[in-house]
Amino acid sequence: MTINIDQQAQQIIIDNDRGGYTVPTAGLYPYQWNWDSAFVALGFMQFDQVRAWQELETLVSAQWDNGMIPHIIFRQEKEGYFPGPKVWQADKGPISSTGISQPPVLASVVWRLVDQIDSSQSIEKAQQIFTQLNAFHQWWHNARDIEGSGLVKITHPWESGRDNLPDWDEAYADIDVGNVGEYQRNDTQHVDSDMRPTKAHYDCYLALVQHGVSCDWEDIKIAQTNPFWVADVGVNAIFIRAEKDLLKLALKLNLQPQASAIKARIERLEKGFEQLWNPEKEAYCTLNLRTNHHSEHVNSATFMCFYADVGSKEQRKLQLKRLNSWQQKVNFMVPSFNPYDELYDELRYWRGPVWGMINYLIATGLSDAGESKWAEAIRKDTYTLIKDHGFAEYFSPATGQGCGGDTFSWTAAMWLCWAKDAI
Ligand code: GLC
Repeated sequence: MTINIDQQAQQIIIDNDRGGYTVPTAGLYPYQWNWDSAFVALGFMQFDQVRAWQELETLVSAQWDNGMIPHIIFRQEKEGYFPGPKVWQADKGPISSTGISQPPVLASVVWRLVDQIDSSQSIEKAQQIFTQLNAFHQWWHNARDIEGSGLVKITHPWESGRDNLPDWDEAYADIDVGNVGEYQRNDTQHVDSDMRPTKAHYDCYLALVQHGVSCDWEDIKIAQTNPFWVADVGVNAIFIRAEKDLLKLALKLNLQPQASAIKARIERLEKGFEQLWNPEKEAYCTLNLRTNHHSEHVNSATFMCFYADVGSKEQRKLQLKRLNSWQQKVNFMVPSFNPYDELYDELRYWRGPVWGMINYLIATGLSDAGESKWAEAIRKDTYTLIKDHGFAEYFSPATGQGCGGDTFSWTAAMWLCWAKDAI
């Protein structure tokens, strides 16, 4: 019996289900990850709506009192994952977790569930989750924008969800790795080390975890002293979109006072986002707030200005031009990092490869902005990559080769909720 690709996608998600929550892939990532779970809910939505909501409910059940929803939730102690709960020492939430968050796509996923399935059940679920979503967003403002500049900052490369982007390299110079000591990585036992972050970068990741521990994961202390305090274009664009989707939800649920507060927050964020514009590069670029320095590199998050619905006509036109030029350099869009840059590396994780869920975000924005030709082209590339190379974690923009972990939950979810309908 031949199993069709939709069934395969569904089966991957079912196999990665650990009972109410889904792991990104067995072995390499044995816990619940924040934005992975949000994307996976979009996959479940296509065949099991009750389970889709449950994925989100288990995610928010790990929320800390300050509103933070952690990046990894260590529901069960697993041998062989590093750095695990003992390294993080972040026991501030109801469930053991890391002390940082991840890109806040959650509210946008909830809005998509409510918008597409207009049932009394989804309204009821949205009502139950709204306060937690709002607290999560307020946490980003309180903890990650103590200056009130309208830009939220990340405190660890892992908080960006794009772990080893070359944009972070500059900030590593200020990180003291002297106390990191000896450690045993496990990721390189699952995946070829050429596809994973280098040891030097891993040292920095661990030094930043140690710094968080030394601050007892107190938001204010971290904001004031963390050596890594960087505004990422991806997180900011995703957050603006999430605030806009939360506003739609508040209006749908008739929550007027909350809606007014969210509107004010959006205004501040939209203004703040313009600080990311790098006129020399004609792109939205990472801004290091410790040095006040724009990155000279361009990564694919610059195309998320459409997703956030920000930027002038001219600024957006320049990004469309850039899409054209990148397309000439690669066979599959959208590489995570500028393929003309000398730091571009087609196989190494976030330094080049194509990621299905990033393509979904970029294409959603382009489609909303009326750029349907581009939105479809990106969807078609994602379709071809998955059909010909399987449900890999990410793909080479040159050959399409599937890289990293396989039977990956979010790649399967993106197939089901978006890529499979490519025309
Ligand atoms: C890697 C990715 C991150 C993802 C996690 C689990 O750390 O960079 O974005 O959430 O794996 O899939």
